[in-house]
Amino acid sequence: METRSQWGTRAGFILAAAGSAIGLGNIWRFPSVAYENGGGAFLIPYLIALLTAGIPILIMEFTMGHKYRGSAPLTYKRMGGKKVEWIGWWAVLVAFVISTYYSVIIAWAINYSIFSFNLNWGSDTEAFLYNDFLNHVPAGQVGSFVPGILIPLIIVWLVVLGILFKGVKKGIEIANRIFIPALIIVFLIIVIRAITLPGALQGLEAFFTPDFSAIMEPDVWVAAYGQIFFSMSIAFAIMITYSSYLPKKTDLTNNAFIVGFGNSSFELLCGIGVFGILGFMAAQQGVGVDEVVAGGVGLAFVVFPAIINEFPALNGLFGFLFFFSLVLGGLTSLMSITETYVAGLMDKFNISRSKAVIFGGGTAAVISLLFATQGGLNFLDAADYFINQFGVAFLGLVEVILIAWFLRKLGDFKDHANEISDIQLRGWWTFSLTIVTPVVLGYTMFGLFRQNLLKLFETETGNYGGYSDAFILYGGWFVAGGAVVIGVILALMKWNSSKASAEEEREAN
Ligand code: ALA
Repeated sequence: METRSQWGTRAGFILAAAGSAIGLGNIWRFPSVAYENGGGAFLIPYLIALLTAGIPILIMEFTMGHKYRGSAPLTYKRMGGKKVEWIGWWAVLVAFVISTYYSVIIAWAINYSIFSFNLNWGSDTEAFLYNDFLNHVPAGQVGSFVPGILIPLIIVWLVVLGILFKGVKKGIEIANRIFIPALIIVFLIIVIRAITLPGALQGLEAFFTPDFSAIMEPDVWVAAYGQIFFSMSIAFAIMITYSSYLPKKTDLTNNAFIVGFGNSSFELLCGIGVFGILGFMAAQQGVGVDEVVAGGVGLAFVVFPAIINEFPALNGLFGFLFFFSLVLGGLTSLMSITETYVAGLMDKFNISRSKAVIFGGGTAAVISLLFATQGGLNFLDAADYFINQFGVAFLGLVEVILIAWFLRKLGDFKDHANEISDIQLRGWWTFSLTIVTPVVLGYTMFGLFRQNLLKLFETETGNYGGYSDAFILYGGWFVAGGAVVIGVILALMKWNSSKASAEEEREAN
């Protein structure tokens, strides 16, 4: 008997998948990643990664979820047997780690949307973020809880777990039907205002001016793939889980194109909006855009508040809209990230949704408290850097090589998708996944691995965005490696017997 939850409508699925894709990665991460990695030139590896990896993998994951109808671990098990189940768990654990700090950034954004109304951050927005708001302590120290983060963080988890509790159709689908249109409207208002600000063009010029020397660097390519994977929610269990709730009759390829191009269009729009606003700030101060831009959390939480101070009118409202868009985009993504392990636990241990939400979501919520401490930002930096490079991008590579080269499933998947989709997959799809992605990503990933492994043996320490290199390096390897080890342990555990027998029965049919 098939008892798996299902989306109510095709639009519901598309909105939920787009809601998962569109998130902090688009609004907060993309503009600074693009800028730091060659500006306009970054768009070349970005587009190559989108067309040869992002969209093809999205189609592949939609097909996997639809064909095997399971969470990521169950899908991997059904696809390649018990010996590859751990990769599904690894993906789920990477999602788990992401959820623990992703939730915290949403909590910051909730605070900042409230701060906007009175411009509480004052004129020194950097000192406000680090000293007043985060009460930041040096790397390696934990310090005490920061109540200003703790309370909104609890609210974030209550909202997300409450929605997941209600299920796929009544919870996730309804929430996305409300949040995503709201997000698009809010963001369009921001972008229109941004590009009509004096100086906006200067910002766009800085954003799109290519620094071609950057595309020779392996880390720029890994950054592009990492950005595509993170932003499209691929390679870390999400899209497999979401498509496992699709009805039998559906269009996989078309849906993937809509979600993939929709996400990247929104992402470019974010880049345009953010750099239009940065251009305005630069013009106000009579300096170059490179002097006002900042990477990582600094862009959204230091530079933006400073710009909002300078807005010609309605400062509070625009500040609110910007941070509120982070909250909306963040929540719809966090739901999908958390659903990966809720679904994994339900499938493996045959427990109810409520139990899986309480156990899985509860554990993530408790761990996320670490990031709500005074030292939280250091941990956040370590987790984000390593999870993206060696979690998400590396997982994508392993996934593609496993499926294309070892299990040789692409032919089956192509037939499966073509049978039910309007757009027919042809040679480009197989070629991208069999050759282009493994070669380009494999080569660049290898370069990055070497760099980082070598660093482990260096005595000198440098900096990742201002924090202790050694701390991030060891902490990062610990988290990235831990996800693999726990993944293997979970895979070794027995499937709940009734689930396993339902499984065998289904396989026999
Ligand atoms: N895809 C989500 C984002 O971009 C995780 O934030």
